[in-house]
Amino acid sequence: METKILTTSKEDIAIAARIIRDGGLVAFPTETVYGLGANAFDEDAVARVYEAKGRPSDNPMIVHISRASDIGQLTRMLSPEIVSLIDNFWPGPLTMVIKKRPEIPNRTTGGLDTVGVRMPDNQAAIDLINMAGVPIAAPSANLSGSPSPTRAKDVIADLDGRVDAIIVGDDCRVGIESTVVDLTSEVPTILRPGIITAESLEAALGKNVEYDSSLKEASKHVALDPADGVSESDFQPKSPGMKYKHYAPKADMLVVEGRREDVAAEIERLKALNERLGNKVGVIMFEERAFIEAAHDFFARLRDLDNEGVDMILAGALSDTDGVGFAVMNRMLKSAGYNIVKV
Ligand code: TXA
Ligand code: MG
Repeated sequence: METKILTTSKEDIAIAARIIRDGGLVAFPTETVYGLGANAFDEDAVARVYEAKGRPSDNPMIVHISRASDIGQLTRMLSPEIVSLIDNFWPGPLTMVIKKRPEIPNRTTGGLDTVGVRMPDNQAAIDLINMAGVPIAAPSANLSGSPSPTRAKDVIADLDGRVDAIIVGDDCRVGIESTVVDLTSEVPTILRPGIITAESLEAALGKNVEYDSSLKEASKHVALDPADGVSESDFQPKSPGMKYKHYAPKADMLVVEGRREDVAAEIERLKALNERLGNKVGVIMFEERAFIEAAHDFFARLRDLDNEGVDMILAGALSDTDGVGFAVMNRMLKSAGYNIVKV
């Protein structure tokens, strides 16, 4: 398939919008990561998104809208919680899981009776949705399993020849995907952490917000010391997605956790050791407590290191007591397939 490479000009967005209306696939920038979009109400188009990404088809997609009021096309019931989160965080990197209208195809929501909805904070994305005149279902615009794309060149590397068009916009401001919060449970529950943290959701809602237990289990796993005799196979994740390497670089990856000086020393030691064996080693070590920057750079660093052809990536763990640090660590640990050492 010939992929059109488009700009964010009005004329090009109009071409992209027409492709969406005709049931085609368009990759486009958002403030978080690039998305691969299709008409959310067109089952066949949505099926092609799964094909282009090489993704299992039971995975629900996030539906993107350009005006908060369009949420009425996706759900019948607006709770005060939904309205409050819209007022506080939209447009922005927050996806709300809410009860879906029956008109939304099962393919779009992975057979669930809920739908994830968000309004992105990116002009090209808003223009595209507006001109298409339909909500756009879009997962991240990467091949399934590889790091999420935060730059147009990353999208082109993965999807050129597999989709109808790619809109080349700016690098993504946030760099990790939106926070996903489930509002259908008794207590609002974060299913995927992002830069909008539990604390900021709690402040807006004036009530307790929880992390899904699978997220907590994953971080508990991290806290386990290999000396305790706990092996990889003792870790049985609940959410099927956690079984597989996500966001994985081609290189082998190891996360080193501990006090900052100890981590730096251990990374230097491992790097020297591996280089002596003839391995090309890449290092990811962010400034202490520079969580927003880490979020912005993380996926791009993985892709750059892969492009440099490193055999091995050593990454320093961030503090996960900070909400944004926790969100980045969620990606870092998945990328490394939960391969972690403590020093
Ligand atoms: O920032 C983002 O959210 C990006 C940009 C493109 O908007 N999109 C994105 O989509 O990351 P994707 O498909 O890579 O991730 C969607 C996440 C998955 O973890 C999925 O399980 C969850 O959202 N999700 C979507 N709809 C859901 C639903 N109805 N119930 C539970 N989880 C849902
Ligand atoms: Mg994704």
